[in-house]
Amino acid sequence: MYRTKTCGELRLSDAGSRVTLAGWVQRSRKMGGMTFVDMRDRYGLTQVVFNVENDAALTEAANHLGREYVIQVTGTVAERTSKNHNIPTGDIEIIAEKLTVLNSSEVPPFTIEDDTDGGDDLRMRYRYLDLRRAPVRSNLELRHRMTMEVRRYLDSKGFLEIETPMLVGSTPEGARDFVVPSRMNPGQFYALPQSPQTLKQLLMVSGMDRYFQIVKCFRDEDLRADRQPEFTQIDCEMSFVEQDDIINLFEGMAKHLFKELRGVELTEPFIRMPWADAMKYYGSDKPDLRFDMRFVELMDVLKGHGFGVFDNAAYIGGICAKGAASYTRKQLDELTDYVKRPQIGAKGMVYARVEADGNVKSSVDKFYTQDTLQELRKAMNAEPGDLILILSGDDVMRTRKQLCELRLEMGRRLGLRDKNKFACLWVVDFPMFEWSEEEQRLMAMHHPFTHPKDEDIALLDTDPAAVRADAYDMVVNGVEVGGGSIRIHDSALQAKMFEILGFTPEKAQEQFGFLMNAFKFGAPPHGGLAYGLDRWVSLFAGLDSIRDCIAFPKNNSGRDVMLDAPAPLDQKQLDELQLELAKPEAES
Ligand code: AMO
Repeated sequence: MYRTKTCGELRLSDAGSRVTLAGWVQRSRKMGGMTFVDMRDRYGLTQVVFNVENDAALTEAANHLGREYVIQVTGTVAERTSKNHNIPTGDIEIIAEKLTVLNSSEVPPFTIEDDTDGGDDLRMRYRYLDLRRAPVRSNLELRHRMTMEVRRYLDSKGFLEIETPMLVGSTPEGARDFVVPSRMNPGQFYALPQSPQTLKQLLMVSGMDRYFQIVKCFRDEDLRADRQPEFTQIDCEMSFVEQDDIINLFEGMAKHLFKELRGVELTEPFIRMPWADAMKYYGSDKPDLRFDMRFVELMDVLKGHGFGVFDNAAYIGGICAKGAASYTRKQLDELTDYVKRPQIGAKGMVYARVEADGNVKSSVDKFYTQDTLQELRKAMNAEPGDLILILSGDDVMRTRKQLCELRLEMGRRLGLRDKNKFACLWVVDFPMFEWSEEEQRLMAMHHPFTHPKDEDIALLDTDPAAVRADAYDMVVNGVEVGGGSIRIHDSALQAKMFEILGFTPEKAQEQFGFLMNAFKFGAPPHGGLAYGLDRWVSLFAGLDSIRDCIAFPKNNSGRDVMLDAPAPLDQKQLDELQLELAKPEAES
């Protein structure tokens, strides 16, 4: 037997018992005739003591242990004289009687302790060592508990877990596909699924009624802190349901997860906010509702007073930062620079402070009388001590998005975005389509299988841009943690949707014929949703990036620096696949 106990379980009540532990040397210290070794495994850390007076040869052997050696120790549990209250095993130590080195280790490239790491690049290159650190490991433990709870919850609701293939056909809507060449079908390619969307709909046609899958999805898109090229969805679909049924069931699941994994009881129903309101009041389809700071439109108050910037603006919006009137000129300049950064793109920022006596002092005082500034104060519901920040622009949506960035930044600066506080909501009534400047056509905002709202179907012919969809997202703390919709289950309506999206009937048939044909054989009304597992885990763990809850993530350039992937293929493999690489421009 390699071990009788783990390095995390011994307590004072075990004193006197003889145990064998196995694990890694985290560190060792020699103090006079005593050598102390901290031994680590997945479960914790235990101090082992070697004493020259007990066994000189054994202590000498312990003095030769290097960091990360794998050892097996047999000894007796004893109460520690100087206790370590920071670890659960801190009341005891093992008085060693036997030491076996199971494996040696080279000096690791960084010290493997909870609060040290070797910087991002080294951590990722030696991710297997980084994963020995408790904070990183605990994220994976949380992820495991989360998937267990998800399975338990969905199983209790009658869902079947069904796997769908990873080698599928390319679908041009949405993000770019990762493609896989087929050796047996030269010149042809599979795509890795961006999501199992069409397959889960086919499972509804099959009568599976309630499906789920914890499934890898692949999207070749630009990466951010909350995006990885391969990520995991908790993907679900249900038959004979309306939007409310889905929202209620998955709100129940969210509450279950909050309770089981964070000990947070959410008793109130989540707010359901129409997309149009989310954009109007927060400039985002994923508003962070941990703090209010809603937008107020100020066109009526501030236009027509001779201040050209506002007079010519299509949109003027303000936010009120409570208690921030004490912001210094330097802080306000920093904020102005923040919104003027190219990624945000505002032209400038106007501010107004409400002073202790109620007077309003603004950066554009010369254009406005105190009366108008008092009107502004009233519109903003601002009190003495508050700071009003205003942005304007000639594109309503663009300016709202800029104001959203300012709101989030102010929330951050004022400490209103506490990671231990959770604000959940559903954003509903999404528009069916959005205009793509790049493609110069309408694109489906969620996906082309989403059902338009019944009352808006007539608009499909006359004003498609005004059609709203039976689509919904769940948002927690400004993060889109999931989204879904009621689907089209009628082949004629589905064909019409493809037509509006600019597909010729032939192209629609070629790409989605399998789905439209299936709909001809008795497709039930259905709908579903997918939660982003990585985003849920990182939210619960309070992480800044989903990378930290993925065992082997990719970096921001989509590389796995440990595996050194992606990498060129051998000529032999290229030949087998009948692939020829375009020559770099210089050579051609
Ligand atoms: P959607 O594209 O909204 O919907 O994805 C569902 C959820 O998956 C998560 N997510 C991601 N997480 C990490 N990295 C990414 N690159 C990434 N992209 C998406 C988000 C998101 O809310 N088939 C539909 C679902 C449906 O309609 O049922 C779909 O994929 O949390």
